[in-house]
Amino acid sequence: MKIPPMDYPHKSAPADVPILEALRERWSPYAFSDRPVENDKIRTLFEAARWAPSSFNEQPWRYVYATKTDGEARERLESLLMPGNAWAKSAFLLAVSFAKKTFTFNGKENRHGLHDTGAASAYLAAQCPALGLVAHQMAGFKVDEAVSLLGVPADFVPGSMIAVGYPGNPKDLDPKSQERENAPRERKPQKEFVFRGNMK
Ligand SMILES: Cc1cc2nc3c(=O)[nH]c(=O)nc-3n(C[C@H](O)[C@H](O)[C@H](O)COP(=O)(O)O)c2cc1C
Repeated sequence: MKIPPMDYPHKSAPADVPILEALRERWSPYAFSDRPVENDKIRTLFEAARWAPSSFNEQPWRYVYATKTDGEARERLESLLMPGNAWAKSAFLLAVSFAKKTFTFNGKENRHGLHDTGAASAYLAAQCPALGLVAHQMAGFKVDEAVSLLGVPADFVPGSMIAVGYPGNPKDLDPKSQERENAPRERKPQKEFVFRGNMK
């Protein structure tokens, strides 16, 4: 799928070797436009998440989301943000992921619930560039309140909060966020996390 032109520069990953376009163009910005995200695009994002792999095909992920048009539901999601992530309030869509802690088929603990939910959220984020959208995941939210406020059953644990929207203008950000927005993208070299045979 071709990446559509954006009214905001991409922050492509300076990958050492070529990688899939969607992975190269995905990044986590701070500036979001308040332009509404179309319903069919929202459906496409969650469809991408739906096709993530999972242990025993449990599909342990759940998402609670609200857009800027969702009134009280949206306020509830915004109230979960830690102050350091206040920039996310400008994103049109806010979501929280949850992972089911047990397997449905036998009731036993699913050690990979959060792992697989992370994969689903990564799929969602990787779908964004092709839709002209950006996503930014966050650990900085009130996890206990997320469970009580969003009607989450006991068998689920919070994953991440996710801001999604059209890219915004970095000039509208506070100075600290602007600095982070413009910082170069960095990664450890492969030799620090890839080991052939053993980790010694
Ligand atoms: C699970 C998770 C939690 C994160 N939490 C936060 C957060 O609370 N606040 C924030 O500004 N960024 C957060 N990030 C974004 C990371 O800082 C970002 O992914 C990382 O710096 C790499 O940048 P890139 O996504 O643009 O490649 C989080 C990302 C993930 C996957």
